[in-house]
Amino acid sequence: MGLLKGKHIILGICGGIAAYKSVFLLRLLVKAGAEVQVVITPAGKEFITPVTLSALSGRPVISEFFTANTGSWNSHVDLGVWADAMIIAPATASTIGKMAGGIADNMLVTTYLSAKCPVFLAPAMDLDMMAHPSTKRNLELLAGYGNHIIEPAEGELASHLVGKGRMEEPENIVKAVEAFFASQCDMAGLRVMITAGPTHERIDPVRFIGNYSSGKMGFAIAEECARRGAEVTLVSGPVSLQCVHPGIRRVNVESAREMLAAAEEAFATSDVAIMCAAVADYYVENQATSKIKREKDEIPQIVLQRNPDIAATLGAKKQPGQVLVGFALETDNEAANARLKIERKNLDFIVLNSMRDKDACFGTDTNKVTIIDRSGVEKAFGLKPKSEVAHDIVNHLVEII
Ligand code: PMT
Repeated sequence: MGLLKGKHIILGICGGIAAYKSVFLLRLLVKAGAEVQVVITPAGKEFITPVTLSALSGRPVISEFFTANTGSWNSHVDLGVWADAMIIAPATASTIGKMAGGIADNMLVTTYLSAKCPVFLAPAMDLDMMAHPSTKRNLELLAGYGNHIIEPAEGELASHLVGKGRMEEPENIVKAVEAFFASQCDMAGLRVMITAGPTHERIDPVRFIGNYSSGKMGFAIAEECARRGAEVTLVSGPVSLQCVHPGIRRVNVESAREMLAAAEEAFATSDVAIMCAAVADYYVENQATSKIKREKDEIPQIVLQRNPDIAATLGAKKQPGQVLVGFALETDNEAANARLKIERKNLDFIVLNSMRDKDACFGTDTNKVTIIDRSGVEKAFGLKPKSEVAHDIVNHLVEII
């Protein structure tokens, strides 16, 4: 189903004999299209060599905080932000204990403490260690923190004793991670068109009328929809951002009229449209084909003509079953103006953000929004990173769908 394609996965390997199975696990993850960063404990390296792991993952293996004599260090914080999932397999009694107690004395546990992504643990140890009350309590604690425990199987162990403690087979670990991502794919089968960024209206070949939109809000929504399984078309004005999710189809435009054409085409085959772009309301009717020269006496006059309202155009064409979401960027009478826009543009709901809120709207990494639906019901959210705002908006969308 391609659920792991493009996913960033940290594979944590601890010092236990089951570490040999981690090589197969790594192979399966890479085959499934994931980008895998191996983080191994010092004891793990006694069981399996970093050379094998880096050859299979295509990345240097991380084990230490610092690289000797070079002054460089490995950032657990960057890794924690990068990862979509962390799998610790095998998870030994010692690492499980450190994770439960927050003892960050190696790169693996430190990375775990920084990780914001779902964490999967596949314990592997001898049956008595597994059955020990401290191991049981630590695993319960970790499960209580929201970690996913992939229970070990029963069978013959490396000690030749028979019981519970064999690390789950790599195929089943991959299945457990895939099942998790499948449960997150609540937008699978939906086609979503998103507009983002500013539009530029040319005055001459070197000048334009534009605005301060960076595209960050629209791109965050596109990433969230794609992550949740939607087929995404992102119609973007001129911005310097790159898409991260490989499944996003990006259409670059410059002016409002170009954005309208691209949005109309994509909307015809979309279930949802989210209009996050800051579209210029006017274009320059007397656009010059050569650079306007600085004349001594004459000051050039720019003649403006009204641009199409893209959201309203789509609203007029909306078919039963299609959902149209707008944004409202306001400076005053915020809620009242936003409600008028719901009606005028035939929106299903609107996301209001206000220029009066600090660190919100244009160019910032954070935003503060209120979702207003057609019946006037408001849901207000606090100031958050735009990725989390995108999550809230998409949650509301999925609820109404
Ligand atoms: O890009 P960032 O730097 O991250 O900033 C994000 C943002 C502030 C641009 C974003 O959160 C936002 O508010 N986008 C909408 C900006 C806007 O143009 O608002 P508006 O109230 O003027 O327009 C209302 C709605 O109509 C919007 O959905 C807009 O996309 C749409 N519109 C407006 C004019 C027009 N000619 N065509 C449109 O489709």
